[in-house]
Amino acid sequence: MSAQNKAPAPEIKPWSGRFSEPVSDLVKRFTASVGFDYRLAEFDIEGSIAHARMLSATGIIGAEDLASIERGLAQILSEIRSGTFNWSLDLEDVHLNIERRLTDLVGDAGKRLHTARSRNDQVATDIRLYLRAAIDHIIGQICALQTALLDLADKHTDTVMPGFTHLQVAQPVSFAHHLMAYYEMLTRDAQRLVDCRKRVNRLPLGAAALAGTSYPIDRQMVAKALEFDGVCENSLDAVSDRDFAIEFCAAAALLMTHLSRLSEELILWMSPRFGFIDIADRFCTGSSIMPQKKNPDVAELVRGKTGRVNGHLVALLTLMKGQPLAYNKDNQEDKEPLLDTVDTVSNSLAVFTEMIPGITVHKEAMRVAAAQGFATATDLADYLVRKGMPFREAHEVVAQAVRFCETRQCDLADLTLPELQQFSGLIDQSVYASLTLDGALTARSHIGGTAPARVKSAIAKARKALK
Ligand code: ARG
Repeated sequence: MSAQNKAPAPEIKPWSGRFSEPVSDLVKRFTASVGFDYRLAEFDIEGSIAHARMLSATGIIGAEDLASIERGLAQILSEIRSGTFNWSLDLEDVHLNIERRLTDLVGDAGKRLHTARSRNDQVATDIRLYLRAAIDHIIGQICALQTALLDLADKHTDTVMPGFTHLQVAQPVSFAHHLMAYYEMLTRDAQRLVDCRKRVNRLPLGAAALAGTSYPIDRQMVAKALEFDGVCENSLDAVSDRDFAIEFCAAAALLMTHLSRLSEELILWMSPRFGFIDIADRFCTGSSIMPQKKNPDVAELVRGKTGRVNGHLVALLTLMKGQPLAYNKDNQEDKEPLLDTVDTVSNSLAVFTEMIPGITVHKEAMRVAAAQGFATATDLADYLVRKGMPFREAHEVVAQAVRFCETRQCDLADLTLPELQQFSGLIDQSVYASLTLDGALTARSHIGGTAPARVKSAIAKARKALK
């Protein structure tokens, strides 16, 4: 956008009548928000049209004025869309830029638009309209990423990998089961946004500067036209609080935290030490000095950008905490963190959704790793329990067997039956079913377990839920 100054008009700002000198250039630049709030323009126009229609319906302005306002705003919208609108820093923000252009285009009718309205309730309305659209878009993007995860999971319900605790091999899980954990996290992320949207979707217009207005306005009519679920019930609250934006940023921070954890895992899995996966070249970059390198930059950037979104959440909380009622200019500082949060979350989801299908899974490396860390030790203990031994005792017996394997550098499944029987007479040939990775997987067949059949039905359930 070009925040160029137009030729200075004799009376620059709509509020300048009270002032004996123009604001200094430095202050003008310091206080202007048009450099970023121009992005609210389409919502500002939408809100103005609804406001003007109400002003006309209630007889506050005439039908001819309404027609002129609608015509002018339609032209402004097309100028903005085609990039020919002349944004002026002298006019401070998106609201005054549009209002001035409207007056240039349609004369006095343009000056009547701001009746029974203040920039305070106007900007609060614009942000809510913007955020509502952003939330709807992001929820759609979450569903797309979930579909990508399900598509990958579908192919890997039998792919065994080590499940980790403390980043040490713990018990075998399937790769599909692991991916489905992220599906669950994303489901909650989407639910949080749906819930947040209810509180975003309330109309501030009518609150005017802070106390409401003496005109016979119809707030319900405006709310309906803008598809809000209702109106903000207190004028002071309507213009001053930004809790809905903070709530969104909190949900966004959690969403990014989930993407960051997945990023961290992709990075680990792709490192040659793990060698579990490969990420398609188009999502990786090389090193300018080390020719052998292929770096998972996308995942690292998403992990890094999580810090930035967390920062925006803290910025908004801090912005709010010391403000007396009602509106204060501090609130102009809500926009950059909010807009950047929306952009960052949206871009991260988009790039992840493209990257997930570009993952190649090295099943054999996963299986070998799972076979190396005594991943079926718990299954051996469970086997002994089924034969009648108390669990704590079984735990001790298996610990002895694991120590024995360590001295021999072999896995539990590599021990012969007589070797295993040294540790307990309860062990017989049937033990080997419990010692295999696939046996360990299949045994966990309850709801939420990693058994292939169970994970297949979890995937099917998820696909239904996404529809
Ligand atoms: N640009 C301002 C903002 O973003 C609009 C509201 C200005 N209101 C005022 N009383 N100065 O908050």
